[in-house]
This record gives sequence, structure tokens and C-alpha cells, in this order.
Amino acid sequence: MCSNRALSVVLALWLASFAAGVAAGSLAEDKQALLDFLTAAPHGRSLNWSPATVVCGRWTGVTCSADGSRVVSLRLPGIGFRGPIPPNTLSRLSALQILSLRSNSFSGLFPPDFANLTALTGLHLRFNRFSGPLPIDFSPWKNLSALDLSFNHFNGSIPSSLSNLTLLAILNLSNNSLSGQIPDLELPDLQFVNVSNNHLDGTIPKFLLNYPSSSYSGNDFTPIVPFTPSPSPELVPPAPFPAPMSITKKKLSEAAILGIIVGGCALLFLTAALFLYLCCSRGDEENYVSGKRSKGDRSPEKAVARKEDANNRLVFFEGCTFAFDLEDLLRASAEVLGKGTFGTAYKAVLEDATTVVVKRLKDASVGKRDFEQLMDVVGRIKHENVVELKGYYYSKDEKLTVYDYYSQGSVSSLLHGKRGQDRIPLDWETRLKIALGAARGIVRIHTENNGKLVHGNIKSSNVFLNDQQFGCVSDLGLPSIINPMIPPVSRTAGYRAPEMVDTRKASQASDVYSFGVLLLELLTGKSPIQIVGGGDEVIHLVRWVQSVVREEWTAEVFDVELMRYPNIEEEMVEMLQIAMSCVVRAPDRRPKMPEVVRMIEGLRRLDGGNWTSTEASTPAHTQ
Ligand SMILES: *[C@@H]1O[C@H](CO)[C@@H](O)[C@H](O)[C@H]1NC(C)=O
Ligand SMILES: *[C@@H]1O[C@H](CO)[C@@H](O)[C@H](O)[C@H]1NC(C)=O
Ligand SMILES: *[C@@H]1O[C@H](CO)[C@@H](O)[C@H](O)[C@H]1NC(C)=O
Ligand SMILES: *[C@@H]1O[C@H](CO)[C@@H](O)[C@H](O)[C@H]1NC(C)=O
Ligand SMILES: *[C@@H]1O[C@H](CO)[C@@H](O)[C@H](O)[C@H]1NC(C)=O
Ligand SMILES: *[C@@H]1O[C@H](CO)[C@@H](O)[C@H](O)[C@H]1NC(C)=O
Ligand SMILES: *[C@@H]1O[C@H](CO)[C@@H](O)[C@H](O)[C@H]1NC(C)=O
Repeated sequence: MCSNRALSVVLALWLASFAAGVAAGSLAEDKQALLDFLTAAPHGRSLNWSPATVVCGRWTGVTCSADGSRVVSLRLPGIGFRGPIPPNTLSRLSALQILSLRSNSFSGLFPPDFANLTALTGLHLRFNRFSGPLPIDFSPWKNLSALDLSFNHFNGSIPSSLSNLTLLAILNLSNNSLSGQIPDLELPDLQFVNVSNNHLDGTIPKFLLNYPSSSYSGNDFTPIVPFTPSPSPELVPPAPFPAPMSITKKKLSEAAILGIIVGGCALLFLTAALFLYLCCSRGDEENYVSGKRSKGDRSPEKAVARKEDANNRLVFFEGCTFAFDLEDLLRASAEVLGKGTFGTAYKAVLEDATTVVVKRLKDASVGKRDFEQLMDVVGRIKHENVVELKGYYYSKDEKLTVYDYYSQGSVSSLLHGKRGQDRIPLDWETRLKIALGAARGIVRIHTENNGKLVHGNIKSSNVFLNDQQFGCVSDLGLPSIINPMIPPVSRTAGYRAPEMVDTRKASQASDVYSFGVLLLELLTGKSPIQIVGGGDEVIHLVRWVQSVVREEWTAEVFDVELMRYPNIEEEMVEMLQIAMSCVVRAPDRRPKMPEVVRMIEGLRRLDGGNWTSTEASTPAHTQ
């Protein structure tokens, strides 16, 4: 963990120093702006900013771009500044990316001329005495990913233009005097938010309910009894194996059950949760019957055969050898595997020791018909690189999907889990096979539904290893019927193609982008988004790799764990190029998945390797 963090800090510095600003300006102008600022702003400690010395590398708190042409970061915490920020000084640092003036005594309004600092990625003004309203228009700061204005005296309302900050990952407005209702902000990359200790009122907006209540406590919100998911990271470490629990007919109170879920403990008895939903959904019996009738309309060759009767509403697909019903599933002991974009995954062990993964879809207000149609499409896909959907359950309040369980865990846990002492590193061979397998699986998915099916949620926690250690993708198609909740603390954000920020719609091209991020993850061993420096900065893997590659420091991007394997550099560099082509900004300039597969296969054809022999590159249809 520690070394990871140290590495991340290095990354942060790189990121800060490489991406030089595009705006016109020069170091001499930056220097003059800094001197003007220092002259006009009263302060306690003296700084070594002498007009006679060079700025870069010498002046306290100042960092320049790699080529030394501009000032890109200014950090002056705890210097004892007081009074307003002198106008037309700092705002002239037009290439500035990070500005930290925290723990001073600056006062006055939020400096209006900061609107000229359009390259900012991080603005840290916490622990000062700023007052008055927040800027009405946040749209100048398109690149802002961290905004910390906490512990000031800002008042007025929270502007809805914050939604313009599409890259925002950290928002800390706690301990101010903000009032009014919070707009329901749409911030797809938001990882951390804190608006606690203000005077906000009205109802708690939906996006906040994904965060712990201490993110918004200390306000005057209309009390509700929210279902607040715990802020546990996507991957909950596996808990010790739970003892099987026999089914209890005793009805648990809703609060108790929610308590179990909210508790976020890795262990949870699916029994209890499902039982509740079963009780709640009794009223649906009629809907169900009518739904079933409409199913009968379907032509038999189109519909997949179902094992089903009125008491057993768990629907299995043809060829599925599972012999259990909903009752059995309820009786199974379950363990939380992780929380994802669309809900929570459990590992369920049945009495006969069959182990399955049950995914409980959250906030899925999808009609029965749409849901079944998607399930039919997905259930039909039988391919060695696609995790097979075994069955599903639908009621108004509860949607479950059932998959095979992969004991090695996801690629995410193999890649990021247990970095440190006990870790078994993931070797290059395996990473190649993961990439190739996943790519083939996605190709297969993209052929389905007349070539229009989209996976929509490609990320390392949705990729598993099959028997031959090739990648195998899971959890597909859901965005077409479900609006994903904005995930609380998740790795999803970093996989999202830039165009999705506006359109919110997944496409095959955005799948290619997400797959490119997965490749970068395999190459670098780093998560797509990292928060570093105690929360001060956010590193987007794609942007980081792009900046490093631009500077031709390519060798620096690779996972240190891969350095021990000889003669793989060339393959890694080629794979990096493939990944970079997948994450280009313009969707129509990305390769299509079949082409990606060919490129990856091409890596090994170079040295005549026959690693593709066990895998046919044409999809294996079973129908
Ligand atoms: C912001 O920049 C523009 C153009 O660069 C300039 O005309 C304007 O005076 C600046 N505003 C402030 C408040 O510095
Ligand atoms: C925002 O970031 C992108 C990518 O790093 C960069 O190309 C662009 O110039 C930045 N925008 C501004 C206004 O600096
Ligand atoms: C914000 O505070 C100032 C005094 O600092 C006051 O004049 C103003 O009315 C306040 N605004 C709101 C919306 O409370
Ligand atoms: C910024 O946000 C405001 C309010 O949400 C919106 O009206 C405006 O169109 C946005 N501007 C841009 C450039 O996205
Ligand atoms: C933050 O706000 C809370 C509630 O208003 C207050 O009790 C606490 O003292 C504040 N903390 C600081 C450091 O001002
Ligand atoms: C939000 O800020 C308050 C006050 O600074 C703190 O007590 C609380 O723990 C914070 N919540 C989170 C989720 O960080
Ligand atoms: C605000 O949030 C950021 C991000 O987590 C954190 O680093 C910072 O300490 C928080 N500020 C306060 C005063 O808690």
C-alpha cells in the first residue's frame, strides 16, 4: 500500500509537470504575476521568491512544467496570508493546474478573476475566511477534478453549474454557511463529496444517497429514512466462509435487514434480504401470471427453454445443469463479493455445494418484458470468453441474475489485490491471455442482436479467468435497460469513454474505450482512477499514460511487477500502442473489436508462438 502511494505521488508530479498549458504566456510573465501577488498580499512567513533567482526548482511552493516554460502548480499552505487575494495577480498564471492556498487567512469574496485559470485541475482553499456566494458559473474550469472549499464562510446556495465539471472527483464544501436546496448534481466521476455542516435544507438529493451520511450531516434536511449503502469499495475483501444458515420463517423487520446490508459487513445472508423481497412482492402474483401469459406468445424457437412453474420463478436457460430453485437459493449461505454499477454481487453456496454468483440489480425499474428480452439475448451467448448467464429472477422489486462462480476472482482483484508481501504477481503471459480472451468475448457480444449488442460495463472487476486462464467477460448489456446509479466509490468512472459524459449512452465504440483502459490497467498495474496526496489529486490513468508517452518515457509506464520477465518489452510496447488506439477521444477513430483481437493475436505471431491453438478465434456457438 505504502509503495503504491509513493508511486502514485510520483505519478501526480509527472501529471502536474508534463501537461504544459496551451494558453499563450511565458515564464517571465508567470514570474512577474507571482511577484505582484507576493507584494500585494500581506503574509506571515517570508518566502524565498527573489526576482534575481530562477523560478523553476527554486521558489518555494512553485512547480514548473517539464520543459520549464510555465508555472503549473502553486502550493502555499500555512504561509499566514491574510486579506483578499490581490486581483489580477494569480489569475495571470494561465497555465496553472494546481492551486493550493489552504490553511491561510485569506478573506473576501471568491476571486472572480480565477475564472481565467481555466487549466486548473485542483483548487484547494480550505481553512481560510472566504465569504459570500460561490461562483454562479463553474463552466470555465472544465478540467477541475478536485475542489476543496471546506472550512470557509461561503454562503448562498450551491450552484447547479457544478454539473459542468464533468471530471470532478472530489468536492468538499463542508463547514461553510451554504443554504437552500442542493441541486441533484450529475457528476459521473465523483468519488468523494462532503457538504456537511452547512445550512442546506429540502430533501437530500438522490446523488448524495450513494455516499455515507457523514458526507451531508449537520444540515437542515427534511428527515427521511434513507437506504444508505455503505461506502465500501467495489471489492470487499473475502470474508471467512460463512456457516450455512437454515431458513427462518421468522419475519425480520425491514430495519434489521437494511441494517445488515448497510452495515457493509462482507458477510450477509442472502436469505434474509431475499425473504423480505419475497414477502413484499407477494402482491405481484397477478402481474406475474399475466406476464407469463404474454411469454406464451413467443415463438418457441425464439424463446429459450425455461424450467419454470408457478412456485419456482427462477428462470434457467437451456443446457443449465443447476438443480435448485428459489427456495434453495434463499437457503444458501451468501457472501458479498462486491458492489458495482448496477448492484451487488453475492457468492451463494447451495446445500449441494454448488457455488454460483447472484447479482442483485439495484434501482432497476425495468419492465418485465424488456428485462426478459435482454436476458434471452444474453442467455443465448455461449462462448468460452463470456461468463455464462445461467438464469434470472424477475419481480417488480427484485431482479436477480445467476452466473457461474470463478474461484480465482476477478482480474481487478488479481491485479490490485494484496499488493505487498503475500502477493502472487500476475505474469505477462497471463495478462496477455486475459486481454485476448476478454477481447474475443467482447467481439462475440458485439455480434449479438444483429451486431448491435453493447456490453456497457467493461472493467477489470467484470473480467474473470476461464479454465485455460483466458479472460472471460461478465455482466453485459445492462446499460441498455437500466440507468446506472452513479457509483459511490467505484473504479467505474475511469473506464467511461469521454463521449459518455454527455450522451450517457454506451456504444460499441465506448466498449472499445473501456477495453483500452483495461489494457492500460494490465500494462501499468494501476487503477483507472487514483486519489492521491491525501485526496488532493486525482489521476486518470488514460491521461497519465498519454502524457508520459507523449514525453517518450514509455518504459516508465509498465507495471514494476512485469520487470522481472525477460524479453517482453517489445510485446508490452505493442500492447501499449493497441491500448492507446482504443482510448483515442474520437469514438469513430477507435478500432472495432475484431480488429483489436487481430492486433493482439498479431503480437505473438511474430515469434511463431502457437498460443492461440487451444482457442478458436471464431466464436463458438452452441446453437
Ligand atoms: C481574463 O483574461 C482575459 C483574456 O485573457 C482578459 O481580457 C481579462 O482581463 C482577464 N480577466 C481578469 C479579471 O484578469
Ligand atoms: C484540459 O485537459 C486536457 C487534457 O489534459 C488538455 O488537453 C486541455 O488543454 C486542458 N484544458 C485547458 C483549458 O487547459
Ligand atoms: C452572505 O453573507 C453576507 C455577509 O457576509 C450577507 O450580506 C449576505 O446577505 C449573505 N447572503 C446570503 C444568501 O445569506
Ligand atoms: C453549465 O451549467 C448550467 C447550469 O447547469 C447550464 O445551463 C449550462 O448550459 C452549462 N454550460 C456548459 C458549457 O455546459
Ligand atoms: C464545523 O461545523 C460544525 C457544525 O457547525 C462545528 O461544530 C465545528 O466546530 C466546525 N469545525 C470547525 C473546525 O470549524
Ligand atoms: C465530512 O466533513 C465533516 C466535517 O469536516 C467530517 O466530520 C466528516 O467525517 C466528513 N465526511 C466524510 C465522508 O468524509
Ligand atoms: C475535503 O476532502 C478532501 C478529499 O478527500 C480531503 O483531502 C480534505 O481533507 C477534506 N477537507 C477537510 C477539511 O476535511
